[in-house]
Amino acid sequence: MRTGDPVARLTLEQKASLTSGSDFWHTQPVEEAGVAAIMLADGPTGLRKQAGESGLSLGMGQSVPATCFPTATTLGSSWDPDLVERVAAAIAREARAEGVSVVLAPGVNIKRSPLCGRNFEYLSEDPYLSGELGLAFVRGLQTQGVGASVKHFAANNAETDRMRLSADVDERTLHEIYLAAFERVVTAGDPWTVMASYNKINGTYATENAWLLRDVLRDTWGFDGVVVSDWGAVHDRAAALRGGTDLAMPPFGDDDTVVDAVHAGTLSESVVDEAVRRVLALVARAGAAAGDDDPDEKNTFSEEARLSHHELAREAAVAGSVLLKNDPVGGAPLLPLSESADVLVVGELARTPRFQGSGSSRVNPTQVDVPLDALRATWGADLPFEPGYTLDGTPEEDRTLRAAAVEAARADRTVVCLLGLPESYESEGYDRTHLDLPPAQVELVQELVAANPRVVVVLANGGIITPVAWSREVPALLEAWLAGQAVGSAIADLLSGRAEPTGRLAETIPFRLEDTPAYLDFPGHLGHSRYGEGVFVGYRYYDVKHIPPAYPFGHGLGYTTFAQGDLAVDVAGEGDEVRATVSVTVTNTGSRTGTEVVQVYVSDLESPVARPERELKGFARVTLDPGASQRVVLELGPRAFAYWHPVLRRWVVEPGTFTVSIGASSADLRRSVTVTVEGTQVRTPLSAESTVAEWSADPVGGPLLARAFGGGAALTDNPMAAEVPLGVLAGLAGFPRANVDVLVDAANPGDERDEGDAATR
Ligand code: BGC
Repeated sequence: MRTGDPVARLTLEQKASLTSGSDFWHTQPVEEAGVAAIMLADGPTGLRKQAGESGLSLGMGQSVPATCFPTATTLGSSWDPDLVERVAAAIAREARAEGVSVVLAPGVNIKRSPLCGRNFEYLSEDPYLSGELGLAFVRGLQTQGVGASVKHFAANNAETDRMRLSADVDERTLHEIYLAAFERVVTAGDPWTVMASYNKINGTYATENAWLLRDVLRDTWGFDGVVVSDWGAVHDRAAALRGGTDLAMPPFGDDDTVVDAVHAGTLSESVVDEAVRRVLALVARAGAAAGDDDPDEKNTFSEEARLSHHELAREAAVAGSVLLKNDPVGGAPLLPLSESADVLVVGELARTPRFQGSGSSRVNPTQVDVPLDALRATWGADLPFEPGYTLDGTPEEDRTLRAAAVEAARADRTVVCLLGLPESYESEGYDRTHLDLPPAQVELVQELVAANPRVVVVLANGGIITPVAWSREVPALLEAWLAGQAVGSAIADLLSGRAEPTGRLAETIPFRLEDTPAYLDFPGHLGHSRYGEGVFVGYRYYDVKHIPPAYPFGHGLGYTTFAQGDLAVDVAGEGDEVRATVSVTVTNTGSRTGTEVVQVYVSDLESPVARPERELKGFARVTLDPGASQRVVLELGPRAFAYWHPVLRRWVVEPGTFTVSIGASSADLRRSVTVTVEGTQVRTPLSAESTVAEWSADPVGGPLLARAFGGGAALTDNPMAAEVPLGVLAGLAGFPRANVDVLVDAANPGDERDEGDAATR
């Protein structure tokens, strides 16, 4: 026993109790040992601190008022780490005022399929963008002394059967797509906690998955915080501890199961100690950060802060809204609308807005800016309004409302029509089955555009909607997502042009569900989801299959136009040290101040593995006055060029040529430069399973093979022999197996593969 070690002063029973919560939202206190309890609460859209007991409500009871910020879909579309950091800092300040030490956010899961019911809680289909914005979120929380819980680790990409489903994913795809954002956040952001997800990964629950939690998270990435289970993700306390989960939330089962497992020798006490040490460190970290905060002084959140956070929610809603389309009507783009325009508002969602998702992220907002009120504040108190449809889809009523709206639209005015997904269409806990608007809304918009060419559609939805036939005739389409409690004022700001739409799509909008990458196996079958599309997720898939999307990843218009030119790429260093500096001149070529998001995509032109056509590796937002230019400089690190080698089981930068492109979306590349990168020559170890061709091509193995078989040329010249594995060839030739083993050892001096790695070539 080490004196001074707080763990050494605890009994096994006390230690066991510390590896689980004391109630739905608190860790376990140990008064005799001076260990306090800390509180954890949701995230990520704002603070969801439950008021009162949880009981059988499964933690879904009423929560204290808090600012409801835009959902992660909106924040993802802002492409603005600074903004995301400020939003998270505001959430943290509210958490501090409520005595909450850890906010269960951000969610950095990849949007594998647009059908995932919880996509509104995630940032992007792209791991680089998710990683940068997730990191900003963690920084925002933690600089205010509130811990983050990066979730849901890992490959939790569907809600259907989410507490059992096995995500069956190859290791390269995990590293490049599903783990990469977590890796970025963990290695650069030092989150206090990581949340292990409900699902299984390749057959093993995330909470029990030692490969995930120990080998990758702790040993490879160096994570030293607490692994907390998702709420109810633990099935067996001892197995979870062995797997690397430190804290089971909420309390699950009996602490005696942990004590008994130690006594039975199936769980090492040192594993319990390790978990307890980390939980104690978390409690201490939270205590030190809270300083003199009085945990009993609730609702100390000042009116001034409440108002400034609401303004921040409005700024974020504006920043993340994406102007998908703004075609000219009568010679000029329909948007922005002048404040003297004659406007008709249509759509029940203007009066009954949907601005956040359902489930554990649901915030009790401090106020709500209703779009109709905000539009009336801009275009006049007597602005006419027609509901146009019902949110619960009552056919008879829908027909009557539609007829009235279309009649009102026949006048010479601009129609602002709010459409979107009703609450029941998407939620945590279940997946969507299609990507369409409700039929009554589709019929409404089709009849509106037939009656009046000046129709602006504003969309409210957390997951994407396919804008099929109905949108073709709509000149202006503003995707406002689930925009948080300032939804109304943000929409009025954007439509009037008081604010510029600066959002860019963080996910592709396809024409059809059938075009989506995971279409064939989402959400999965019989307990398994096979990630057969591999690394080809989102735009990576549409690009490689040449499937034109309705709106590509990275797309978004503003009220001005930009040129990007004069691209220069300087490469320095080599291998794991390679860096590139990308410089590009951005010019505002329009007549209004606006913001461009410069996107950098990298393509590997030659590789032994199938790589995406291009991948996002950098981005920068730049705001310019009309006519102004700015030289934008972006730095790329080795990861911009690397892939995860499935045999060597690590990242490699191979030598060769790469194309670096800049543009305004993944489909709108403006300039490209081809560069040569001095990578590291990787050599895949030879084995008995390596073919004659592979042996012959290897500088060490070739001569050895030639000597062993008395003249390699005869072998390799025979095209039938080239593809035969050495072991088979040796067996057929009566060559003793022991000699093959000698040859393999001689061919692989200092074999760099992991011990026990079954993968061979
Ligand atoms: C969700 C988590 C959430 C937790 C606590 C779970 O059902 O998956 O995201 O943080 O509940 O509410």
